[in-house]
Amino acid sequence: MAEVAVGGRAGAIEASELAEIGLRFEVDGEIATITLDRPDKRNAQTFATWSALARIGESLPEQVRVVVVEGEGPSFSAGIDLRIFTPEGVPGQTFFAANAARDDETLERGIAEAQQGFLWLRRPEIVSIAAVQGHAIGAGFQLALACDLRILAEDAKLCMKEPALGLVPDLTGTKPLVDIVGLPRAIEMCLTARTVDAREALALGLGELMVPGEELKQAVRDLAAAVLATDRGAATATKRLLQGARGRSLEEQCAAERREQAVRLKTMFARS
Ligand code: ACO
Repeated sequence: MAEVAVGGRAGAIEASELAEIGLRFEVDGEIATITLDRPDKRNAQTFATWSALARIGESLPEQVRVVVVEGEGPSFSAGIDLRIFTPEGVPGQTFFAANAARDDETLERGIAEAQQGFLWLRRPEIVSIAAVQGHAIGAGFQLALACDLRILAEDAKLCMKEPALGLVPDLTGTKPLVDIVGLPRAIEMCLTARTVDAREALALGLGELMVPGEELKQAVRDLAAAVLATDRGAATATKRLLQGARGRSLEEQCAAERREQAVRLKTMFARS
């Protein structure tokens, strides 16, 4: 896979290293912003992008409660850097076909490493918000799906392109997609690889809000502020509770509510 180091408890990544990969990472108090910053290539993603995202997640400052994921330029992200599939490849990264020749275990380990860049965005301690303008294709759509919430600019266009390229979406996007739109719509969207515009995406629940492009940043700031107005412990416990709800029976969910609430009550009581 990528020749970029993956895994381990890496420390904060240098801004210059991120810039080379086409990423920016800024922390302002409780809000961290990850910017895909290769607008000339429509923020196409590489193994290095995913490795860096994972390292950002591992070294996220403790005070951060909201993580914004945004893309510079006209598109949120045009998905995987298609040069990966060509013999020229992406400089510094293994030619994709060379990876394909490896045994299943090695291949799957490599994909698991890439998925680490997306998985941490679901942590209960944070709320992740994708600010999506223009195209979010393939890995770009999956990155938006990895976030808890999505704010769509009116020109947002979402497309799960992988099946059209002979692949499956493997960057953690299939579960949130099915959870949000349901199985039949997910099958239809993925197997036709059609583009869903912002209006339809909003109606399907793929975005919480749709705004004119020039209002996207402000809408994200407003949502972040509203989230931050909630008590941190309560927010974390509630997100954890909601995340587990689908996988539990009503009885189990009631028990989980009791457990979380007991901790909240004790915490509040201890404070007074
Ligand atoms: N990988 C590498 N380069 C890309 C990618 C990509 N995924 N997407 C765009 N670029 C590059 C183009 O090659 C072009 O480079 P150049 O200026 O050196 O020629 C530049 O970005 C601008 O691209 P345009 O096509 O001119 O931009 P436009 O705004 O007209 O279209 C769009 C944007 C719709 C995103 C188009 O570029 C596109 O369809 N890209 C490919 C999308 C794709 O198939 N992604 C893979 C999905 S599957 C997965 O992610 C696993």
